[in-house]
Amino acid sequence: MSDLATEIHQAVPAAELIDGKAFAAQLRGEVAEGAAGFSRDTGRQPGLAVVLVGNDPASQVYVRTKMRQAAEVGIASFPHLLDANTGEAELLALIDSLNHDDSVDGILVQLPLPAGISEAAVIEAIAPAKDVDGFHPYNVGRLSAGQPVMVPCTPLGCLLLLQDRLGDLSGLKAVVVGRSNIVGKPMAQLLLNANCTVTTVHSRSRNMAEECRQADILVVAVGRPGLVGVEHIKPGATVLDVGINRVEDEQGQSRLVGDVDFAAASRVAGALTPVPGGIGPMTVACLLRNTLTAARQRTR
Ligand code: GUN
Repeated sequence: MSDLATEIHQAVPAAELIDGKAFAAQLRGEVAEGAAGFSRDTGRQPGLAVVLVGNDPASQVYVRTKMRQAAEVGIASFPHLLDANTGEAELLALIDSLNHDDSVDGILVQLPLPAGISEAAVIEAIAPAKDVDGFHPYNVGRLSAGQPVMVPCTPLGCLLLLQDRLGDLSGLKAVVVGRSNIVGKPMAQLLLNANCTVTTVHSRSRNMAEECRQADILVVAVGRPGLVGVEHIKPGATVLDVGINRVEDEQGQSRLVGDVDFAAASRVAGALTPVPGGIGPMTVACLLRNTLTAARQRTR
């Protein structure tokens, strides 16, 4: 490196780490207080039904984490762990019974579902008032109309972290990488509702790096390790890495990485979420928050 390059390199501070784990713990504390108040007022805990079909190992971990953290904040969880060859009709019948069960405030059906079960049919069967994932078309429509709504957990977690760090997001340029129904689309909608100028890029986009480099806020949710590097990041940008990818390192050890090349990005970004310990914990905390919200709204 030349003397000048060394000087510039040293002058650029490493990106600030956005501690989603700590923020999520604080959020869970607030939910615990709210859940205790709800229990005092109503004589019952808020209730979350957790439905998992099949044996996908990652889904099993997520579902266990959701139920353990629910218990820790005083939310009752009702697990329904179904065999991999459960049929769609059986799953729809279960959802119908949960819709009519007064002790259930929220229904979470872990995705993806096994082939042969229509995710759209299952999501549409959930009563919108109990749709703590915010995936039902009724809630998707309300979000796009800017009305109060059950907001999908991962994008909500991202928004809370952004507002905590940046305050009012009005006028900022936001680029969302990925267009899934779970993260990319609702994230773009939330950022638009928060008055950002929003672009979504995806696998068919031209000039992805160029688009990303315009972003004050870059949210990456694709599921491809190392997809985003220095060439995608405007110096000083706030970068949220939603990807959770299991990879093997050179020693054959398995570890989790995001979609962003962390070492490279931390030299350019102003702030960056780590994987693990960034967005993941926020998703679960927001699910608990949505469950408390649903419980309060149902008993009003
Ligand atoms: N699978 C991956 N993320 C999610 C989520 O936020 N909710 C549900 N239900 N399934 C998922």
